[in-house]
Amino acid sequence: MKTALVTGTSSGIGKAIAEALLKEGMTVIGLCRSVEKLPTGVIPLPCDLREPGEIQAAFEKVPQLDILVNSAGLAYLSRLADGNPQHWEEMWRVNVHALSLCSQLALARFPETGGHILNLSSMSGHRVPPTGGFYASTKFAVRALCEALRSELKTLGNKTRVSSLSPGFVDTPLLDTYFAGRAEELAATRQNIDMLTPEAIAATALHILTSPPEVEINDVLMRSADQSV
Ligand SMILES: NC(=O)c1ccc[n+]([C@@H]2O[C@H](COP(=O)([O-])OP(=O)(O)OC[C@H]3O[C@@H](n4cnc5c(N)ncnc54)[C@H](OP(=O)(O)O)[C@@H]3O)[C@@H](O)[C@H]2O)c1
Repeated sequence: MKTALVTGTSSGIGKAIAEALLKEGMTVIGLCRSVEKLPTGVIPLPCDLREPGEIQAAFEKVPQLDILVNSAGLAYLSRLADGNPQHWEEMWRVNVHALSLCSQLALARFPETGGHILNLSSMSGHRVPPTGGFYASTKFAVRALCEALRSELKTLGNKTRVSSLSPGFVDTPLLDTYFAGRAEELAATRQNIDMLTPEAIAATALHILTSPPEVEINDVLMRSADQSV
């Protein structure tokens, strides 16, 4: 039976992926702060991803792994011109630094035959929206990190696969932060776009993670059929 560690398991996409992996018969470890919100059957691993020491200590409780899903992330609408630098720092720590550290710690726990890392990127890692510029920079970084790790592993002869999933709008609590102070804009966006569901993202994640060992799906771009950019 495979063991998967999913970050951001208390909400949205990470929660839906954890539920899908549980249904597949995997052992699922859920890393987040609000462990009381984990789906039934997920093994709690409380951790604040802003703190590298907490990440190290959390992974010490995990002897072996087959899969890491880096789903934890946050999106403040924090512009370069006048945004709050503390928001930039939090996004950088969780979306980029913690994702990198979790990947390094997971690699040390994968079997010799290799594991699988799936990173949640975003359409904002492929084009810069007029709003949310700093968030987009963290997702461009995730794309670069996926490619960097993939080529490092090939050089090292490590069979671990690295994949990413890049959704457009998904209806989760993340949007309340992204649209903070712009409730009308969020309501209009919901009206104009039949947003993706976390379950739709989880179905694609499952496809990526259960593909044959010789298949490495590197990135999947997913948007609602209504979303233009
Ligand atoms: N929703 C979208 O439209 C969308 C689109 C493209 C990409 N994405 C990406 O998809 C991923 C998941 O987003 P989502 O929409 O599912 O968001 P969400 O519903 O807001 O969930 C975010 C998760 O991240 C965890 N998290 C945040 N800060 C953390 C911290 N300091 N330490 C530990 N865990 C932390 C939260 O857990 P706790 O608060 O319990 O710690 C929560 O489980 C993110 O990487 C996001 O950038 C989302």
